[in-house]
Amino acid sequence: MDIHILTLFPDMFRGVFEESIIKRAQEKGRVNIFLHDLRQFGLGKRKVADDYPYGGGAGMIMRIEPVYNAIKKIKTQNTRHYKTGGQERKKNKIKTILLTPQGEVLNEKKSKKLAKESSVVLICGHYKGLDERIRLNLIDEEISIGDYVLSGGEIAAMVLVDAMVRLIPGVLGNEESMRLDSFHQNILEGPLYTRPAEFEGIKVPDILLSGNHEQISDWRRKEALRRTYLKRPELLDMIKLTKEDKQMLEEIKKEKL
Ligand code: ADE
Repeated sequence: MDIHILTLFPDMFRGVFEESIIKRAQEKGRVNIFLHDLRQFGLGKRKVADDYPYGGGAGMIMRIEPVYNAIKKIKTQNTRHYKTGGQERKKNKIKTILLTPQGEVLNEKKSKKLAKESSVVLICGHYKGLDERIRLNLIDEEISIGDYVLSGGEIAAMVLVDAMVRLIPGVLGNEESMRLDSFHQNILEGPLYTRPAEFEGIKVPDILLSGNHEQISDWRRKEALRRTYLKRPELLDMIKLTKEDKQMLEEIKKEKL
């Protein structure tokens, strides 16, 4: 997957993309991340990227030309032509995504869909907003990371990149992928423990030390259901519960009373 990021603040991304899973995914060649400094596409000597709003009002607005020129350059470079039976076709369709609090709110399902794209351009707005013609003419999708307003799209773009990259096949090890599957089923993960078995009198549940794998597996399922029931009960309406799940939930409800 190729991820292009258009931003006035490319330095904000460096630390985040140079650590942990995103770093390893790049090293393994599963994802290529390209930071494009929008200022480089600014107008004139001063590389202007923003201007006053028509009609007056406070705050600066991002101009369309730098965004247009940056997208044009990315699309030209990305279009590797290949021939099939004499016909020349464009290899990659690039999806342009604007990070904005007005967009569709991101969730795991949406991340999974976007992770299947071969090439995306993430556009980070800053200042008061963007010229509406950017949204109308240059953007395929608008994504929000939640119902709150950030100072710009940069942190939202980092969140989206992280959520997508971990879903690209081969990025996570097997064990991590399986844990992820459990969220795909819209259920929260249950409690996890590691050594010591006892800390200042607080013990790890006996069952986890029992070595009985079947019982441990049942316990984990029940605790995941309990957590989901107590914290995010609406998620339980979205999944297919097995007979065993339903029975566990009945027990959980009784235990709660
Ligand atoms: N830009 C500012 N706030 C945002 C949000 N909540 N999601 C995505 N982009 C944003």
